[in-house]
Amino acid sequence: MRLFQFFLLLTIYLHGAFAVKEYLFKKCAQSGFCNRNRHFASQVAENVDYQSRYSIDESTLNYIESDASIVGDIFKTVSDSTKIRFPFIINILENNNIRLRIDEDRSQIKLENKLLKKERYNEASKYAFNGEPKSSTNYKFNQISNGKFSIVYGDKNQYEAIIYTTPFKIVVNYNGEEQLVLNDRSFLNIEHFRTEDENDVNLTPEESSFNSFHDDFKDSKDDSLIFGPESVALDVSFNGFKHVYGIPEHADTLSLKDTSESEPYRLYNVDIFEYETDSRLPMYGVIPFMVAHKVGLSAGIFWVNAADTYVDIKKTENQVDNVLSSKTDTKTHWISENGILDIVILIGETPTDVTKSYASLTGNVQLPQLFSLGYHQCRWNYNDEEDVLQITENFDKYDIPYDVIWLDVEYTDSKKYFTWKKELFPDPERMLNKLDETGRTLVAIIDPHLKTDYEVSDEVIKQDIALKNNKGEPFKGHCWPGESVWFDSFNPKSQKYWDHLFRNGTGLAGDATNFHIWNDMNEPSVFSGPETSSPKDLITYGDWEIRSDHNVYGLTFHEATYESLTKRFVNKRPFILTRAYYSGSQRTASMWTGDNMSKWEYLKISLPMILTSNVVNMPFAGADVGGFFGNPSKELLTRWYQAGIWYPFFRAHAHIDSRRREPWVPGEPYTSHIRDALKIRYALLPLIYTKFYESSITGSPVVDPLFYITPENIKSFEIEDEFYFGGLLVKPVTDEGAESVEIYIPDDEIHYDYETYQTYQGEGDHHIEAPLGKIPILIRGGTITPRKDRVRRSSKLMKYDPYTLVVALDSKGDAKGTLYIDDGETFDYENGDYLYINFEVSNNEIKSNVNSGSLNASNKVEKIIIIGSSTGGIGNEATVSQGSEWTTSIISGENHAVIKSPGVKLNENWSIKF
Ligand code: GLC
Repeated sequence: MRLFQFFLLLTIYLHGAFAVKEYLFKKCAQSGFCNRNRHFASQVAENVDYQSRYSIDESTLNYIESDASIVGDIFKTVSDSTKIRFPFIINILENNNIRLRIDEDRSQIKLENKLLKKERYNEASKYAFNGEPKSSTNYKFNQISNGKFSIVYGDKNQYEAIIYTTPFKIVVNYNGEEQLVLNDRSFLNIEHFRTEDENDVNLTPEESSFNSFHDDFKDSKDDSLIFGPESVALDVSFNGFKHVYGIPEHADTLSLKDTSESEPYRLYNVDIFEYETDSRLPMYGVIPFMVAHKVGLSAGIFWVNAADTYVDIKKTENQVDNVLSSKTDTKTHWISENGILDIVILIGETPTDVTKSYASLTGNVQLPQLFSLGYHQCRWNYNDEEDVLQITENFDKYDIPYDVIWLDVEYTDSKKYFTWKKELFPDPERMLNKLDETGRTLVAIIDPHLKTDYEVSDEVIKQDIALKNNKGEPFKGHCWPGESVWFDSFNPKSQKYWDHLFRNGTGLAGDATNFHIWNDMNEPSVFSGPETSSPKDLITYGDWEIRSDHNVYGLTFHEATYESLTKRFVNKRPFILTRAYYSGSQRTASMWTGDNMSKWEYLKISLPMILTSNVVNMPFAGADVGGFFGNPSKELLTRWYQAGIWYPFFRAHAHIDSRRREPWVPGEPYTSHIRDALKIRYALLPLIYTKFYESSITGSPVVDPLFYITPENIKSFEIEDEFYFGGLLVKPVTDEGAESVEIYIPDDEIHYDYETYQTYQGEGDHHIEAPLGKIPILIRGGTITPRKDRVRRSSKLMKYDPYTLVVALDSKGDAKGTLYIDDGETFDYENGDYLYINFEVSNNEIKSNVNSGSLNASNKVEKIIIIGSSTGGIGNEATVSQGSEWTTSIISGENHAVIKSPGVKLNENWSIKF
């Protein structure tokens, strides 16, 4: 065994050997700031007479005209002689969202350490928001009276925020009813600055000083904790809301759990090996956005903080006697290690409204290149050029469509990114050109850790764009390459060097444009660091401790890559997969759920995880098909593909130690079942692309949890093993040996089997046979699904193919749908080079109207399948009109009819009577 192989195996072994290890990660009780706040909350909760120590000094209240904000000071009474000032600012944002920020006045403090800023970190919003949110001036401010003031907003004055001054509390009403209350339980706690010597006099009786200045958790012992305790915490009650969702990333249920008896949900980007399911442990990404839903109303909390955060959830019974509200309230407690308190409250009539409203703040998903919605084939690792081309040949040989092949870390020379292992990949550009001949793309990995002693890391050190340790020197730690430094993508200067590394014509891939990037390990993962991540006292650009901006590091890294790729490829939409993410990541990257396992429970948990991602506007999400660690049985692999075709990001991936498992490996009948599933995905690319377009314009999910479609149906609120993809209701089989499923239809709308058109109707469970080759898919009545039924080797080769429209009639004989078309790769759609088409069927006539865009696409419609019991009465001829009129034949079948070759072009309006 050669030395490098030995080290490789050792690293892999160690990586695996430290796995599952809950004990590697801090529990709330081991994390000073979380422990202190849970302690504080329990002291407060025990004392019924307790009054929050925070109050607004009424004389400071002011209206600032320039940005329509309401400002003032909150004071915290520590003792008779000590009051701490916290300036606050309230804004009403567009879309009727209300934002509260509370900062600490640190102007008087003296910080010995000259390497750090002394203010509280306030830049999370800079990364999360898609530009500074606009404040609305359109609200009524009712001045103080009787210890409170209020703000009335919304076009019908339907929103009202009542701010109580003493103690400080905010109640948000909608249509005259109390919906959300901030500081309801008096858990507001902002640990103000003090030195270790002054700590005692700064503590109130209900507080504790656990781990304020010294961390005794194993790998965190060296944490300098220079600012001492500085957490921010607040409780938010959702009245009459039994269910809350979101705050990824956790391997847990869609509807979040009560944490009174367990760990809180932790939000901290970490490389968590062999994660377990049913867990509140942190994972690779963070979106601190929670959606609450009840019949008639939805609400959201966006906690704009990028530090280590814990969220406790408690469900309590209430006495509310309102038909709409549930008898359960959900009470939440948000605890962050530091930063300012920055919170946005969103209220809408439906969960879709709230998701879209959050998207209006943080931006919509980028419209992906069409190829990236095809199938991605990955493993750690494809060995060399020959392997890559052989895999491609096999897909063609076995008639299985695929778009993208991936290269993991082993393609590099000794894990030095921006290099190739020359003996294995002698001419990357040649390889890429060969892939391009069949419309295939390559994605290669580039991580933020840079092996020490090679030109890239040397340059990063020289240019002073590396993360720094607490002494201000380049931080050195361990990751895949061994000793490494980390690229500081917070530093604007770093972009220039990154652009230089990615520029055209470099060794990276020459001039090839069918080449995109995977950014992994960007939590950042540091094998030698506490909780496998960076020590919290590293210093990032701007003189902030990474303690404050840790959760946005991954975003800054993939955004830097995005920026560089837009420069490398003129007018091509970059594709980037990131493992770490934060609010705002949806604008430039897709994500996947990291290192799962080849076990049924991981297939199962992937569904709520991806639905959660859609709830919080990070819809371009997927999970490793087949499971990363281990070897799936042939049955599991097949079922995973049948589920994976519905992941917005659809990639198979496997650990270096796992056996090969490309679709032809399991053999018959599995390979055929996998091929059939992939062909369904490819035929549905027009629907998938249209869903992405709509999400990129409105922020709506790509895959909808059931309650997004039937927000009035309480039974749908907890369903996480089914979803709607457009008009398709899908329940993938996720149980070993299952031969059938009970699919829940959430209302009385007619549904039809995707293949046989058999009718299912009535709210409730319906039995569907699902032997290994069958995916339970129903088409919802009233919808029109666009498809391309001539599936070819890759999405690019299907570009000019004609469309099929699948019209599923509702009980009135009506249906509606949309279709989006553009060139699939450039930004030209931003200048109008696209078609967004509305289809509508009623009274036995289908009408197509171009809603917007003016692409001169030549694609035609080759057939229209109309499904519904009334199709029995349809004749055998349809009249088509587009400019002139002509007739075409109709062929009738069981429960459906097919209009053959209508010959209509999609870029002009048309109608067909049948
Ligand atoms: C991480 C990634 C995994 C990748 C491996 C090697 O574990 O999550 O997908 O294969 O690193 O790069």
